[in-house]
Amino acid sequence: MALAVLHPPRSCAASNERLVARGLALALLGTFALGLWMRLAMLGLVPLGLEFSHVRHAHSHLGAYGVLFPLAFLAWRRTGAFALPRWALALYTVSTVASVAGFLTRGYGALAIAGSTVVAAGWLWGAWGLRHRLMRTTDPLSLVPLSIVAALSCVPFIALMLRKAPAFAQQLVATFLGALLLLVVAPSALSALGARLRWTPALWLCGVAGVASLGLWEHPVTRAGLVVYAAALGLVALRPSLRLVTRWSWGLLGLGLGALALGLVPNVRPSVLGAIHFLVLAPVLLSLAPLAWEPRSTAAELVLLVAVSAVAAPLLAQAFGHVAGTFAITTTASFLVAGWWSWASLASPSVSE
Ligand code: HEM
Repeated sequence: MALAVLHPPRSCAASNERLVARGLALALLGTFALGLWMRLAMLGLVPLGLEFSHVRHAHSHLGAYGVLFPLAFLAWRRTGAFALPRWALALYTVSTVASVAGFLTRGYGALAIAGSTVVAAGWLWGAWGLRHRLMRTTDPLSLVPLSIVAALSCVPFIALMLRKAPAFAQQLVATFLGALLLLVVAPSALSALGARLRWTPALWLCGVAGVASLGLWEHPVTRAGLVVYAAALGLVALRPSLRLVTRWSWGLLGLGLGALALGLVPNVRPSVLGAIHFLVLAPVLLSLAPLAWEPRSTAAELVLLVAVSAVAAPLLAQAFGHVAGTFAITTTASFLVAGWWSWASLASPSVSE
């Protein structure tokens, strides 16, 4: 009996895995639905019916709370680094649903703030649980604990500055988002691939400088930090043991971030949106998704990479002032990408434990 509790039967583990995979697929489909709804409304094809900023907040928070972090939690658990207990995951799920409902209806109202506070507590617990990785200088997860703390420390200042100095608050938001995506989600994805990094304390400092260059402090020194960090991510492309399209997508991400850091691509909203969506929809999801769902064939993944590039490239063109036709192209490609990931995520879960 005691053994059965310590080691739940395989069928029980499998049904838990299936539940997690289904929940993740639902959150991903919800994120896509909100994103596509915004895109169609931008083209004037459907009414939005709600405030644009509320839908945008619901979309980006569902993506972060409901897809990217739960996939990162899976990566931490599968690498034996840390696992939140089940009751905490249940509370995290309820809080995610509550905060997204809050963002959608009232924006940054009481419900969204209450739900987000519990979600942030879950992330901080994760940071604490991962502290034993801090000194492992080749482990991508060593970048995660301090990055969670650094990113969350922006939040009170964002709240304080939102009315007093909106432009400064936007720079803080960019830094916060950059830290979450580049210093927490990306290393978690790399850990799922079994990738190793070098000199992570120095790399972390470059990453911190790099995310500062995207928001709070654009300076040649911080840009240099982003160049180094972009190179570290891009070099994943040279690892022959990884799946081909996953490697290429990290390589393209490294080149894009490097171009942004060197000023070859202007740091304006359309290029940042293009970078965020490329990062999430190709390298991060391709690396993390196999923890929840069966991977697809190389040919199918290649189709995805082309479609994701067709989402990001028109946004990049907008950054250079070429607008004609770009909204239609990015929207069409977004439907392809959403269809692809719906197909991949509704497939059978991959139970690899
Ligand atoms: C193909 C599917 C998707 C579409 C069509 C889409 C569309 C959009 C749109 C229209 C915006 C607002 C753009 C603006 O303000 O001008 C946006 C912002 C954003 N999206 Fe997506 N998106 C998709 C997938 C995702 C996914 C999967 C995630 C994360 C898991 C994500 C994260 C974000 C973030 C972080 C922002 C920025 C929000 C902000 O600055 O407030 N998106 N997306």
